[in-house]
Amino acid sequence: MKSDGLFSEFRIKNITFKNRLGVAPMTRTSSSADGIPRQDVLDFLVRRAKNGAAIVYTEAIVTDYESAQGYPRQSRLTTQRQIEAWKPVVQAIKKEGAVAIMQMFHCGRVATTEVNPAKRVIAPSRLIPRQNNPASKGPYPIPDEISLFDMQHVLLGFVETARGAVAAGFDGIELHCAHGYLLNEFLSIYSNQRRDNYGGSVENRFRFVREVIQAVREVVPQERLFLVRISNWGVVDMEVELFTKSEYQEVIRLFSKEPIDAISVSTYDYKQKVFGTNQNMAQITREVTSLPILICGKVYDRSSAEEALADADLVLSAKSILLNPQWVEDVRNGNPMPARKSEEANIAYTETLLM
Ligand SMILES: Cc1cc2nc3c(=O)[nH]c(=O)nc-3n(C[C@H](O)[C@H](O)[C@H](O)COP(=O)(O)O)c2cc1C
Repeated sequence: MKSDGLFSEFRIKNITFKNRLGVAPMTRTSSSADGIPRQDVLDFLVRRAKNGAAIVYTEAIVTDYESAQGYPRQSRLTTQRQIEAWKPVVQAIKKEGAVAIMQMFHCGRVATTEVNPAKRVIAPSRLIPRQNNPASKGPYPIPDEISLFDMQHVLLGFVETARGAVAAGFDGIELHCAHGYLLNEFLSIYSNQRRDNYGGSVENRFRFVREVIQAVREVVPQERLFLVRISNWGVVDMEVELFTKSEYQEVIRLFSKEPIDAISVSTYDYKQKVFGTNQNMAQITREVTSLPILICGKVYDRSSAEEALADADLVLSAKSILLNPQWVEDVRNGNPMPARKSEEANIAYTETLLM
């Protein structure tokens, strides 16, 4: 990678990224009852675009009013009011020359019943994570096994939310298939022990994800981007690897046959060697796909960003760009910066983060 690689352009279809750095999706739990994030949270995204980020992701947006929400005060994007609230934000991000992407998710079993309007938790199988829910300090609720009716409802929630994002003007839409949430739960045998067509082989476990991708693509115009995010770890039971190398690569191969435009690979640490190999997640992914790859995980300064980009096309930051509004410029100038700790990011869930 040339030394100016981080600040070279990249294109997917007709969409140009002015450099290779962007804001990873970050849940902020700031929405009031109407599902619209607090103004300072929206302003935060625009400021990152103004300060040089080439890509700006929204927080994970919840896809339905029954079982999709996992955390308090998450936002939605299906009503006209919600669409109108995002429009000026998307316009402002685009005016700064950045690409605006909406991420949508269903939390699956990683939910407390109280946060969902319908107080229901669903998952591929009636299995709970081993660890307790950090919020309630008790076990997670046992989910209902998702029925074929539920699947259709969930699928329509993704479609509706994608339509909301298209109406709000987003350049791209990302389907969250990572971090141990619903779609990721389908993909991994750790959380999917179904005996029907949606469990068993990797192809079967991929079936519902495929159905969602196919349905969402119908409403995402070809000139806009449609991405998926994948990981080998989840936010609960973090020590558990969700796939073997061959399963992971099969998932990536299956994704690559779908009408998507890029794969975002989420890691805890981009440079970590995985699956007992000498390769990192981006390299393992690259081996089996020609789709553009976004990489994320412990990128904090110029040299880590350059190193991460060597195996990917775009680099996302969460904690570093959250805590430093000038992060992109500091990377450009090679300024020394610390690797951030998870605890530091808790400020994301307060009203104090105004930068
Ligand atoms: C406050 C916070 C909120 C997050 N919310 C989301 C989210 O909504 N969707 C998602 O895919 N990842 C989410 N993540 C994970 C990040 O996108 C990223 O993958 C992870 O923090 C590792 O990158 P980093 O080392 O640059 O922080 C969140 C991370 C943080 C710190």
